[in-house]
Amino acid sequence: MGKSIPESVRDRAADLRRQVRYHNHRYYVLDDPEVSDAEYDRLLRDLEALEKQYPDLVTPDSPTQRVGAEPLDAFETVTRAMPMLSLENAMDEGELRDWVGRVHKGLPGVSDVEFIAEPKLDGSSIELVYADGVLSTASTRGDGIRGENVTLNARTIKAVPLRLLDSPGPVPRLLEVRGEVFMPVAGFQKLNRRLEEAGEKTFANPRNAAAGSLRQLDPRVTASRPLDIFLYGIGRVEGADFRSHREAMDGLARFGLKTMERWASCRSEEDILRYHREMEAERDRLPYEIDGVVIKVNRMDYQERLGVRSRSPRHAIAFKFKPRQAVTRLLDIEVQVGRTGALTPVARLEPVSVGGVEVSNATLHNLDEIDRKDIRIGDAVVVQRAGDVIPEVVAPVKDRRTGKERKFVMPDRCPVCGSPVVRPEGEAVARCSGSECVQKLMGDLQHFGGKRAMDIDGLGEKLVEQLVQSGLARDPGDLYGLTREQLAGLERMGEKSAQNILDALEASRARPLDRVVFALGVRHVGESVAGLLVGAFGSLERLAAATETELAEVEGVGPIVARSVREWFTKPRNQGILEKLRRGGVQFSQPPKKREGGKLAGKTFVFTGGLASMTRDEAKDRVLAQGGKVGSSVSSNTGYVVAGESTGSKLAKAEKLGLTILTEEEFVRMVGPGK
Ligand code: IVH
Repeated sequence: MGKSIPESVRDRAADLRRQVRYHNHRYYVLDDPEVSDAEYDRLLRDLEALEKQYPDLVTPDSPTQRVGAEPLDAFETVTRAMPMLSLENAMDEGELRDWVGRVHKGLPGVSDVEFIAEPKLDGSSIELVYADGVLSTASTRGDGIRGENVTLNARTIKAVPLRLLDSPGPVPRLLEVRGEVFMPVAGFQKLNRRLEEAGEKTFANPRNAAAGSLRQLDPRVTASRPLDIFLYGIGRVEGADFRSHREAMDGLARFGLKTMERWASCRSEEDILRYHREMEAERDRLPYEIDGVVIKVNRMDYQERLGVRSRSPRHAIAFKFKPRQAVTRLLDIEVQVGRTGALTPVARLEPVSVGGVEVSNATLHNLDEIDRKDIRIGDAVVVQRAGDVIPEVVAPVKDRRTGKERKFVMPDRCPVCGSPVVRPEGEAVARCSGSECVQKLMGDLQHFGGKRAMDIDGLGEKLVEQLVQSGLARDPGDLYGLTREQLAGLERMGEKSAQNILDALEASRARPLDRVVFALGVRHVGESVAGLLVGAFGSLERLAAATETELAEVEGVGPIVARSVREWFTKPRNQGILEKLRRGGVQFSQPPKKREGGKLAGKTFVFTGGLASMTRDEAKDRVLAQGGKVGSSVSSNTGYVVAGESTGSKLAKAEKLGLTILTEEEFVRMVGPGK
């Protein structure tokens, strides 16, 4: 089967893999890249192209094989020989001192015990198994013995090596490592913004986001989530021997695994308390969430002598931080209407200080969450704050109930405009069905003028409210019909500010088309989807006329997005908006990204046959971006003919005309690799 693979090709593939693996480690594990992203991408693309040409070259541990599996129906169960235990907690200094005392008592005759202190990451625990250096299984903790097989998902996490580094020194026959998969706070916030823009359910905190992303049945979803990992321990090991926790961690780091940072060696309770204080003070500045520190006895022989209790080892303890939680009264549940018309229940609370910040409102997420947690109006509730994430109601304190508490019912009419509330089957979110809901309109306008959309300076919450309330703006299209008199007539708006707004509107007319499309606020169309749509259709007219099938054919656009886009353009109200925008002089087509004097200025490219390392559209983009042109048929004016796989008559014609014919490799060298 397959073509026989020349020795030189095998060597080249092995070499590329080694390089990609090396740079992957520098970038994702050490956070210290040696080459630019473009150079790294080039190596990866070269490897992909080679593997495409010789499919027999592909091995499961090749760095090209991270994503790509089909969705699973369910996770399999993994049973482990060495259970993943949990940790006992110390909630305060007294409990910490008690634990240190117990450790000393458990080690009679030992006067000096070294402790290792590490941050306690707030994510989702995982075990990775490496057999002969290759990642074979990844599993969640589950009940400790039985976990879920999440190998396909773990493979998509870039900081998880698919193969261990084997120099210096050979890798162990078997290496089970344990750690925490987490989502950095910045990535979490970005993800939530993306989900919100797309009208999807957001995550309450980075931990839920990490756990939820790790447990996706479709690995492609996991791959799109900004997950990271730190390893903090080992399970079974064959073919290596570690005498202390630190020795083990140094060993893991040598094998290319990402181990805990910011650890400290402690010799006394005072050392531990100081470390705890320092980390707690630093907590809000770390790029990830931690909820305490973990203290471990360093020497393995001492760890063994101390043994385990029923579910936790005696050699380690979680020394928690002050909870950023408090109990208070849930006074009422109100409903807020968001930009997409989503009704979000918001808790009005008796004000309470949570870790130093006063909280009087908190999110309840959605109706399902309220039902699931059985939260009732009048309940005493636990409120939690995490980093700069919105405070949330965690749970009711049920044994404080008096019987006077009331269940919350979602109103069946929008509290703002009175339109019926709908809840599409299978969705957790209830929405206002009125297309002219004032609240929705205000959200739409603010989104439209937002920094990453039309970027209309001065169009803040206050002005939007005035425009809506005065009836001057019934949709975003009305903005471009505003006159100086109308604006100046608004309360607390002078001639000068009115002119500033008009200037800002004027400037926004020239925004590139992808931002215009994003600004329209079509459900499921975030910035990147908007870019894809514009890349595929080039003008608003063409996008508006595209059928659902045509939309779904765009790479990166799925059926849900396609339907949503189609629906948006079908609505008469939205067609009206488009008309107003057109009349208002807003950019409706994407001028080809021509660059005067670009590297390829004056050159016309014609493509024949498929390319292995990029799509035809990507290749065209590259040419256009550098000032070149793309033609569809070969003529004597054609500068270059790019010959991919399975070429046809165009190539023959090019040869006859004596044109310059480029291989894919030559083309890529000329224009740079795909994105
Ligand atoms: S050591 C015997 N070290 O906290 C358990 N755990 O119950 C050994 N965690 O499920 C755990 N950061 O997922 C350890 N630096 C750290 C940790 C850590 C977070 C998690 C772990 C475990 C939970 C404690």
